[in-house]
Amino acid sequence: MIDGHTQLFGIIGDPVEHSLSPAMHNAALAHLGLNGVYVPMRPADLAEAFHGLRSLGFVGVSVTVPFKVAIMDLLDAIDPVARKIGAVNTLVFERTGTAVRCTGHNTDWLGSNRALAEVIDPAGRTVLLVGAGGAARAVGFGLIEAGAQVLLTNRTEAKGRELAGQLGCPFVPAADLAGIRADALINTTSAGMAPHIESMPIAPELLPHFPVVMDIVYAPLETRLLREATARGCRTIDGLTMLQYQGAAQFTLWTGREAPHPVMRQALLAALHGRHSSPFA
Ligand code: ATR
Repeated sequence: MIDGHTQLFGIIGDPVEHSLSPAMHNAALAHLGLNGVYVPMRPADLAEAFHGLRSLGFVGVSVTVPFKVAIMDLLDAIDPVARKIGAVNTLVFERTGTAVRCTGHNTDWLGSNRALAEVIDPAGRTVLLVGAGGAARAVGFGLIEAGAQVLLTNRTEAKGRELAGQLGCPFVPAADLAGIRADALINTTSAGMAPHIESMPIAPELLPHFPVVMDIVYAPLETRLLREATARGCRTIDGLTMLQYQGAAQFTLWTGREAPHPVMRQALLAALHGRHSSPFA
């Protein structure tokens, strides 16, 4: 029941209509009996939209592509890890009288660490990070925060070397991958995402070198990478797990409540399976 006390939450992105976050957050709000609603929004102008959210009393907002970097210029404060990553995916609005303060956070790294921690504690482990885009930045800085040793590989060497330099970790060229062993491998590239479901971020015969394999692609839920890894005896973590835990961290920042994890996972699965159109958002 929406009334005069309903708290406002949402997500800004473009495109945003296929986002799974509304299903996840609305299920969590309903499950805990909180009077709140979470809506998808596609800003025509980011600065105008931000001032609107601020003025209309929004409590918390998720930020997705293409606004994660541009939003940073508009904020009153930015969490130190989000600043290192160079991207914000979560806005927290705090109101004192008529004053509003908006802080930017990044929960992607919290989500990937917690997803990995379902199988192994990242502290002190060696992790091969595959990719050098925005997702790799968040996962990579997160691994370092958690005390893991990161090795980075990427299809385009120059881009990979640049991110490895920023993370302060070694870059592994494709030609040297066969000699690498690590406690876990995390794919942050879009390889394997529908419709290119046969694409692999790493040669399947190398997978036995990584006892744990995690993917951030969740459409399909069982990517070829995870299927090939399972067939070789690796333990796997699917892409919905990171999405769920980054959302759970947002939910706690906004409400101060522990997130209802199974409820959020179920809502994500239902939304993913019920989705008839593009699997890309
Ligand atoms: P995002 O911000 O979502 O991480 P991005 O910045 O476009 O997206 O980065 C995409 C990453 O996926 C890059 O590391 C890209 O490799 P390149 O730097 O060589 O472009 C990687 N990638 C995309 N498709 C890939 C594929 N089929 N095989 C291997 N790597 C792929």
